Amino acid sequence: MSIIAVVGNKGGTGKTTLALNLAAGLAARGETVVIVDADPQQSAYQWRLTGAEDNGLPDVVAAAMGLAKTVQALREANDYVVIDCPPSIKAPQSEQALRLTQHALVPVQPSPMDLWATTHIAKVIEQLRPDNPALRALIVMSQLEPRTTLSRLMPDAARELDLPVAAAGIRRRSIHRHCALEGRSVFQAGKRGAEAAAEIHQLLTELLDHG
Ligand SMILES: Nc1ncnc2c1ncn2[C@@H]1O[C@H](COP(=O)(O)OP(=O)(O)O)[C@@H](O)[C@H]1O
Ligand SMILES: [Mg+2]
Repeated sequence: MSIIAVVGNKGGTGKTTLALNLAAGLAARGETVVIVDADPQQSAYQWRLTGAEDNGLPDVVAAAMGLAKTVQALREANDYVVIDCPPSIKAPQSEQALRLTQHALVPVQPSPMDLWATTHIAKVIEQLRPDNPALRALIVMSQLEPRTTLSRLMPDAARELDLPVAAAGIRRRSIHRHCALEGRSVFQAGKRGAEAAAEIHQLLTELLDHG
């Protein structure tokens, strides 16, 4: 079983949206996958409750008994566990997730302030590395608007940071918000979700092909 954790130090960057859609993308590839909601705000859990039970979205489990125990209980039955973390890298849930996971994804919006905030995340990840040598962390440019100069410049600016940046970025698309409203992922949105789903697949391929 592999674990993917979506972490960050800010709200609103797209962590929950990315976690849900990554899990749905893995399910679309035929993997068995479950989402663990490690955020006390429980937005991933709410998202799942909003959708119809049989809408094809992976199950969301609240990490009620502690993250390590929750993940342990899911280990046998799943190929992947995707952990959605709270908006603070210092939160115990984020630290636990970084101890457990092989893949940490850090969605970052195209703004200098968001980029600067990642320096702190890189430090925390470095401190945990002795306990988890397999940990690979990647910045994912999130809510990109390709027609803006800022979005064009950001991936290059991000390359100056202490964490590597995924080649695949996630564009800002209204379909993501529609899907959250309907309790679905872009993989259940047919043609309207096709471009967003293709981005998620690109990111998954990049993530999983490198170990
Ligand atoms: N790629 C995207 N395109 C458009 N809207 C997005 C995208 N990613 C996230 N959002 C929206 O941005 C807001 C914050 O996203 P969310 O996933 O809840 O972030 P976080 O979990 O980091 O707080 C939500 O309203 C969500 O629908
Ligand atoms: Mg969230």
